[in-house]
Amino acid sequence: MFEIIDKKELNTSVTSLTLKAPFIAKKVMPGQFVIVRIDQLGERIPLTVSDFDRENGTVTIVVQAIGFSTKKLVALNKGDFVLDVVGPLGCPTEFGTPKKAIIIGGGVGCAIAYPQAKALYNMGVDVTLIAGFRSKDIVILEEEMKKVSNNLFITTDDGSYGRQGLVTEVLKELLEKDSYDLVIAIGPVPMMKFVSLTTKPFGVKTLVSLNPIMIDGTGMCGGCRVNVGGEIKFACVDGPDFDGHLVDFDELTRRNGYYKEEEAHKCRLGGTK
Ligand SMILES: Cc1cc2nc3c(=O)[nH]c(=O)nc-3n(C[C@H](O)[C@H](O)[C@H](O)COP(=O)(O)OP(=O)(O)OC[C@H]3O[C@@H](n4cnc5c(N)ncnc54)[C@H](O)[C@@H]3O)c2cc1C
Ligand code: FES
Repeated sequence: MFEIIDKKELNTSVTSLTLKAPFIAKKVMPGQFVIVRIDQLGERIPLTVSDFDRENGTVTIVVQAIGFSTKKLVALNKGDFVLDVVGPLGCPTEFGTPKKAIIIGGGVGCAIAYPQAKALYNMGVDVTLIAGFRSKDIVILEEEMKKVSNNLFITTDDGSYGRQGLVTEVLKELLEKDSYDLVIAIGPVPMMKFVSLTTKPFGVKTLVSLNPIMIDGTGMCGGCRVNVGGEIKFACVDGPDFDGHLVDFDELTRRNGYYKEEEAHKCRLGGTK
């Protein structure tokens, strides 16, 4: 059992939960994720480790409540327990040795971009963060992101905060003005696709963190397979980070939609979903 030792609501649908998980905290690296199961009947929920404290043995996950299991998870409180937290899973991000990097987060993806930015900033890399949201009321982690970046740009679709427009517009302007040796994008699949299309003509190494449907998280079920440069990869063990210029984003979008009907299903027979 894993205790929730802190809970913060970051906006109306995004919650940060800090769990006591000393063995995971000891080993986890930026880019890795855990799979959480709330109880014995629980679905397996892949969630990226947004922060960790090796000394206190804690890991923090940031959860967007979008469906049955994530809503159940964020309904838990400080002092409650979840049954399983498996991890760290996936490969740590391979940053290489960049000098100037741009990290892009879209919505809840900012919670995953944050540890990447923090790791690079602590390595002495010049970090520019671009964080995109639909509107001001859902902006998260602004103070935290400021602390781990040399420049922070916030964009909103409706212009209610920061600059109006898409993250890709800021990205293109930056790439036209200066040279960068790494771009990392984490967020909705269309955002990662268009970031990769924007960086391609500039020839900048671009990493994306993929979020296909995962089940076991250990490379056994094949559920998370993605097409990268014409090769089949399993995001849970080969990723979740991949070269954005090689990912088949359209196939990923199709595969992520396979279970839409089942996810929307409301059981009237007394089942749990
Ligand atoms: C490696 C990885 C890291 C992730 N990190 C985060 C994170 O840090 N914060 C966060 O809020 N979300 C994260 N997600 C997405 C999160 O796992 C899903 O939102 C969650 O599983 C949805 O479950 P649900 O029952 O609440 O919603 P459902 O109603 O069951 O599904 C809603 C949508 O969530 C996605 N989804 C559903 N089940 C899974 C599954 N088993 N694996 C992957 N996606 C699924 C699908 O796109 C689906 O359309 C991550 C996913 C992956 C693969
Ligand atoms: S989740 Fe089963 S192979 Fe990746």
